[in-house]
Amino acid sequence: MGICLGSPSKSDRSVPGQGFGAKVAPGNSKQSSNLSNPKTHSGPFCDALLGSLNDDVSVSSNLKSFTFNELRNATKNFCPDSLIGEGGFGYVFKGWINEATLTSSKPGTGTVVAVKKLKAQSFQGHREWLTEVKYLGQLRHENLVKLIGYCSESKNRLLVYEFMPKGSLENHLFKKGVQPMAWATRMQIAIDIARGLSFLHSLDANIIYRDLKASNILIDSKFHAKLSDFGLARKGPSGDGTHVSTRVVGTMGYAAPEYVASGHLTSKSDVYSFGVVLLELLSGRRALGDETIGGTEGTLVDWAKQFLGDNRQFSRIMDTRLRGEYSKRGAQVACSLALRCLYNEPRNRPSMDEVLAELEQLQAIQNSPQAKLEHRVKTLSSHKPHSLA
Ligand SMILES: Nc1ncnc2c1ncn2[C@@H]1O[C@H](COP(=O)(O)OP(=O)(O)OP(=O)(O)O)[C@@H](O)[C@H]1O
Ligand SMILES: [Mg+2]
Repeated sequence: MGICLGSPSKSDRSVPGQGFGAKVAPGNSKQSSNLSNPKTHSGPFCDALLGSLNDDVSVSSNLKSFTFNELRNATKNFCPDSLIGEGGFGYVFKGWINEATLTSSKPGTGTVVAVKKLKAQSFQGHREWLTEVKYLGQLRHENLVKLIGYCSESKNRLLVYEFMPKGSLENHLFKKGVQPMAWATRMQIAIDIARGLSFLHSLDANIIYRDLKASNILIDSKFHAKLSDFGLARKGPSGDGTHVSTRVVGTMGYAAPEYVASGHLTSKSDVYSFGVVLLELLSGRRALGDETIGGTEGTLVDWAKQFLGDNRQFSRIMDTRLRGEYSKRGAQVACSLALRCLYNEPRNRPSMDEVLAELEQLQAIQNSPQAKLEHRVKTLSSHKPHSLA
């Protein structure tokens, strides 16, 4: 979910101003442009809005409507022990429900779920909460996190998701002390993300995700990735339309330049963000503010572009924690794909279908017996000094 201007956010706290993962909008805000003062969201206007949100929620009959009390019981009264994460709009708690009846169950029994609770009363927060319920309530795909239900009681807004035991991609790539992911896992995650986006962009769904970033990619127990947080998703253009015009929201470092400049949103904006995430997977560096590429000001894209298309230099961007244990040819192909996703001209970027096809082909080659043998020889030789010691 996104961040509401004026509400304290994880990103605001980590770096003053436009820090890691700071939301992007004119003036670094993420407000609706028709609100004169986005910091004040109470009063009759907001109440009227909440009323209409409650009406809209009823369309998502796929979802279970929880009472606040049920979710309080499921999360041990939202106790700090159950806290699993924090984002711009809310805290995420571990909870337990009975899978058959979808009622809350005694903590520690039944099925584990993730319960996201909005922390502040905000126009933007409720708007995103509703978008999430509307989109994720209707979409089902193996690479989208499953939304199980919601709670809309009085001014409380909560969302109940399937629990993703390995947390976010952000933690796996950047958290200190976490075991580095192997090359094959990174490529599988890239394929999973591409599959999720390709489904969203398909004619049936026609959705632009708009908030692709490492913290919105969640990992299951088998290291498969799913997209979460549909609060900023938008219907794609219809008929002859080439784009949708929107206020600019998203996250610095991931948002496509033409979208930030004009507010013109297309599925190619998601392709650009995918290119940034692919770069993060390859390099183990953050999209914005990574200390190894120029601190708070440097963007990964600006830094990496000089090396990506150069077959002699591309290895300079590769994550040293991979210890060279990757296919050189595979990495070259992935770097060149990232470069094309990051083209300034959206028309020149590939579609997500094309990206997916290319990554799947790459995976098939790398899984061939010949490639596996080469990889094994390489891994053994790179471990040799250790085993001799
Ligand atoms: N379904 C889930 N299962 C397991 N952990 C989750 C789940 N949803 C969220 N989390 C954890 O909670 C953290 C916070 O998620 P949240 O979506 O609120 O914020 P964010 O994505 O980090 O930032 P933003 O508010 O900008 O989207 C995630 O990074 C993840 O570690
Ligand atoms: Mg999120």
